[in-house]
Amino acid sequence: MMRRVRKAIFPVGGLGTRFLPATKAMPKEMLPVVDKPLIQYAVEEARAAGIEEFIFVTGRGKTTIEDHFDHSYELEHTLEARGKTAELEALRAWLPPAGDVAYTRQQVPLGLGHAVWCARDLVGDEPFAVLLADDLILSKTPALKQMCDIYPEVRGNMVAVMDVPKAHTQRYGILSPGRDDGRLVQVRGLVEKPKAEEAPSTLAVIGRYILEPAVFAHLDKKSKGAGGEIQLTDSLVPMIGTSPFHGYRFEGQRFDCGDKIGFFEAQIAFALARADLGPAAQAVIKRYT
Ligand code: UTP
Repeated sequence: MMRRVRKAIFPVGGLGTRFLPATKAMPKEMLPVVDKPLIQYAVEEARAAGIEEFIFVTGRGKTTIEDHFDHSYELEHTLEARGKTAELEALRAWLPPAGDVAYTRQQVPLGLGHAVWCARDLVGDEPFAVLLADDLILSKTPALKQMCDIYPEVRGNMVAVMDVPKAHTQRYGILSPGRDDGRLVQVRGLVEKPKAEEAPSTLAVIGRYILEPAVFAHLDKKSKGAGGEIQLTDSLVPMIGTSPFHGYRFEGQRFDCGDKIGFFEAQIAFALARADLGPAAQAVIKRYT
């Protein structure tokens, strides 16, 4: 019987060195785009996709994320006393229900593959999603929902993909594509951070995955890959051919919020897309162009 994707892992244990000093005492996933932390966009996307259990793999700054997804009695009391009911309701509306959130600590940031492996016992034996909050996606249908909707047809492993400039292949996991219907691309091979001249294509893996629990057995080996890190993609390679494996070209615009300019562009795009801020944001941009 086909099992629904119910659990999602949010790896938030990276060092975020590209955003120092902002990330010295705070995880980069707490950086806000307009008025919402990156991690909240990711959690809302997961909820919209039907995810019921939210597993955070944290490192430093654990308490900020835990506090963010918890009641703040002092703040709620103050808002109530001041009659700010709309703000109060908005604050309570997106809190995950009690018991649906779990935290585990990565202890040492050995890489994304290691972060995912840390959640193995919380995931158990069922397909699960992974969302990297620093890949922020602006779309009509939340990107993970697009993937979960099509997943029952394909099963196996599924990764979000997009075309990147050839000069940027070294920043991503790159697919060696097989059959391609424009939306779904069969994965024949996968290589992490190849040089432009060695890249098998320009189709890059973006931070949304639906994975088979069998990946944990491969992650168990803790082999180090590109950059001396335990890479998630390296553990997906031996699964090619053993179960279905697809890249999914999502609808939407993706912003690399782990990068300063990508983060800056996300601020502009998300402000412009907001009904309450769009016209004012447009006027500000005009002043600088
Ligand atoms: P990045 O490659 O962007 O690394 O991680 P980073 O450490 O967060 O940032 P920089 O490069 O130093 O600026 C991609 C994703 O994997 C998570 C990060 O939190 C981010 O969501 N990650 C990475 C972990 O959870 N643990 C790790 O050991 C490494």
